Amino acid sequence: MHRLEVKDLKVAVGGKEILKGVALSVSSGEVVVLMGPNGSGKSTLFQAIAGNPKYEVVGGDILLDGESIKDLPPEERFARGIFVGFQSPVAVPEVRFAFLLQAMMNIKSGKKLTDPNPQVLAQAQKIAAELGLKPEVFNRGVGAGFSGGEFKRAEVLQALLLRPKFVVLDEPDSGLDIDGIAAVGKAVTQLATSGSGILLSTHYARVLKFIKPTRVYVMAEGRVVLEGDENVIKRIEEVGYQSYFAEIKKELAF
Ligand SMILES: Nc1ncnc2c1ncn2[C@@H]1O[C@H](COP(=O)(O)OP(=O)(O)OP(=O)(O)O)[C@@H](O)[C@H]1O
Ligand SMILES: [Mg+2]
Repeated sequence: MHRLEVKDLKVAVGGKEILKGVALSVSSGEVVVLMGPNGSGKSTLFQAIAGNPKYEVVGGDILLDGESIKDLPPEERFARGIFVGFQSPVAVPEVRFAFLLQAMMNIKSGKKLTDPNPQVLAQAQKIAAELGLKPEVFNRGVGAGFSGGEFKRAEVLQALLLRPKFVVLDEPDSGLDIDGIAAVGKAVTQLATSGSGILLSTHYARVLKFIKPTRVYVMAEGRVVLEGDENVIKRIEEVGYQSYFAEIKKELAF
């Protein structure tokens, strides 16, 4: 059993504090959903978990199995089993996607980056078929000319191949067609069932058709303001954030 814990995390970008004390946790096998209005800090949190050096941790901590990882470089966090898929993934057209997958798996098993590993491609092709991703993407540069939906599927493919301790996905359902949402939803459930801990952000209740969240956190203005279950997602979809926040304020007042 593994545990990823964010404790009173404060993060600044360009000297401006964006996260003002975020606390949440995810354990193996859990599917934890993060919601929050545009600009509330979800992607900032995911960048901080990944270790993007532009996102400066100015307070609090990120712990993996009780050990601080906040000062580790991104590749070391990856090697320890944290895979992060971004809202707007960056293309690396000079690296072939097939090479990236092989390198990723070599890092995981402690081999040299360039060690040949033909099994990886065979396995990736099988997963690609399940995700509805064209096999020709493997011969292209990472993200080179990928459509929005191909990018998202390619991220989930990496997670399915890696089976990391934690899969952190920023809006994995955005920009996907209906089949894509179903495929990604099923993949997330499969990953959790096989033992990965999942933290994902979304804006829509449609994900509930395919995933069963263990817990839901809602962020506002750089903080987690609420913890609940899937009913929180349904209510937010019904009335929107502002009315929902007004509703809970009223409830809290009694
Ligand atoms: N590099 C930056 N420089 C200045 N402000 C930034 C920077 N990155 C993020 N911010 C600000 O931090 C706040 C949180 O942004 P973030 O992208 O984390 O929100 P989000 O919850 O992911 O929103 P969305 O739902 O739109 O994806 C926003 O107000 C944003 O403008
Ligand atoms: Mg975002």
